[in-house]
Amino acid sequence: MNYNLNIPEKKIKGRRRVIASLRKLIDIIGTEQRKLTIAFVAILLNAGLSLLGPYLLGYTIDTHVQTKNYQGVLTFAGILLAIYLVAYILNYIQIRMMGGIGQRLLYRLRNSVFEKLQELPLDFFNQNKAGDLISRINNDTDKLNQFFSQSLTQFISSLIMMVGAGIFLLSINLPLGLATLSPTLLLLIITTSLSPWIRRKNEATLKSLGHLSAEIQEGLANFKVIVAFNRRDYFRKRLGKVNTENYKISIRAGIANSMLSPIYTFAANIGQLIVLSLGIWLIVQGRFTVGLLISFIAYVSNFYNPLRQMASLWANFQLTLAAWDRISHLLSLKSNLPIVESIESITSSSFIHFDNVSFTYPSDKEVLKNVSFDLQKGKTYAFVGPTGGGKTTTASLISRLYDATKGTISLEGKDIRSYTPCERASKIGFILQDPILFTGTVRENILYGNIDCGALTNKQLERELADAQILDLLKGFDNGLDTNVEMSGDSLSLGQKQIIAFMRSILRKPELLILDEATANIDTVTEKQLEIILNNLPKSTTKVIIAHRLNTIENADEIFFVNSRKVIAAGSFDEALSMLMEEKGES
Ligand SMILES: Nc1ncnc2c1ncn2[C@@H]1O[C@H](COP(=O)(O)OP(=O)(O)OP(=O)(O)O)[C@@H](O)[C@H]1O
Ligand SMILES: [Mg+2]
Repeated sequence: MNYNLNIPEKKIKGRRRVIASLRKLIDIIGTEQRKLTIAFVAILLNAGLSLLGPYLLGYTIDTHVQTKNYQGVLTFAGILLAIYLVAYILNYIQIRMMGGIGQRLLYRLRNSVFEKLQELPLDFFNQNKAGDLISRINNDTDKLNQFFSQSLTQFISSLIMMVGAGIFLLSINLPLGLATLSPTLLLLIITTSLSPWIRRKNEATLKSLGHLSAEIQEGLANFKVIVAFNRRDYFRKRLGKVNTENYKISIRAGIANSMLSPIYTFAANIGQLIVLSLGIWLIVQGRFTVGLLISFIAYVSNFYNPLRQMASLWANFQLTLAAWDRISHLLSLKSNLPIVESIESITSSSFIHFDNVSFTYPSDKEVLKNVSFDLQKGKTYAFVGPTGGGKTTTASLISRLYDATKGTISLEGKDIRSYTPCERASKIGFILQDPILFTGTVRENILYGNIDCGALTNKQLERELADAQILDLLKGFDNGLDTNVEMSGDSLSLGQKQIIAFMRSILRKPELLILDEATANIDTVTEKQLEIILNNLPKSTTKVIIAHRLNTIENADEIFFVNSRKVIAAGSFDEALSMLMEEKGES
């Protein structure tokens, strides 16, 4: 399955695509219906009131100013003041409602994107860069918030103003109205043909912002190598390159986004020109009044000003759609590791059974081909083989970090895919090659994902650790269980991290324990200690030990040699040794 977010989804073209995006958007704001309705009514009333102004102005000029009725003029001023006050209140309501909707949308979107990330399999994280994902969670969602809290209100009120002003123009004088509105037809054609281009430019900016973020993230995560190799210049150059690209793309998007505004201004000016010349001609002919012409001119501004505003909002809308596409692409992904019904035909009595298993990474790297082997309960197995031979991959398949491309893997006679992640994790403990800890304390890291011991006090936990014979391992930490751990920092040595990862797995009392180079960075005294702990595990515990150092696997019941897409039982320790030597000799 393709999880690379930078490979676009199959795209629907043109208007259907806009409608499809909008439909998905409406789904996520569905719960805000009441607030949206209130905001919408406020916008509608506000626009209606603003539209009343010019009409009242024209009426007052024709009936009161020309007859010098000052009382009438004062009444008009009073009504206008009342209108402004109500408009002020309505404005406040719409800003408050839409601002709230925007913020809640941002909050919900960030949550759902993050929750989605928790659901997705390892393949997804292998194919996407953390920085780009952060950019989607932070930047893209904020584009939607900005649109909802600012642009959408303006957009709707501009639209209502424009339609209202258009109706007034046509009803005051139909021929003059039609002539004034005629430039909009041209605008419609220009806008429709430019929109896809504007959207493409905006898509490109968001994508390049993602690249920039990924580059910064990578540089920060690997700063030690950068400093150690004194390659700041290299990092600077790489960052400079993506930054320049982002700059160029943003400039291009800026041009695209501002393209419509001047065209709309030009159309507005033409509209005014038509009104003036035709209107004065009609007055001379006695078919139009001065008051009506003044109302008319005001409505022309009321028509073209919002239209001009809509032109820049339209570009913003295209940016929002592009951001939404990036988010909805992520939200639409599904894990390729679903729980399936167990197919009953598996008859193996082994704890783990590989039946003709092949595995290929999405990058087309085939690591295993038609591999079959069994792991029995309570036995100790060693996986050996050259670097890059496929040991970690095989272990990952046993703990279902990936699914086999072909063949079946069963756990206690049932397809491994039929277990829930929780059942699987309680049976299988996997100490990864690079121990990953989270910011917090040693205690939190040992208890990570451990439901049974989560509520224990430190004293009780220490008793549990003593029962599991791993309490002594805590001695190496200054503050015992309360020692601070920083995920990105170096407060602990690699060996110390491995010890925490080891304790984390042992405490969960798994039925199968996989140690992937788990003692590679630990001193020989502690290593002996770990060996004793491993030997004292319940007799029924199955152990898989992956190690380069051959002394660590001497006591294995069976040794598997993993290389060239095969997993072969090596028989004795000496046989495994000679297989390794042969391999080294060949390469
Ligand atoms: N996420 C991945 N995507 C694509 N290819 C991968 C991925 N992980 C590993 N590989 C490839 O699969 C092969 C087996 O890798 P694996 O990590 O299983 O080897 P290993 O035997 O554990 O090596 P080592 O002894 O160095 O830990 C390697 O050639 C590696 O390049
Ligand atoms: Mg490995």
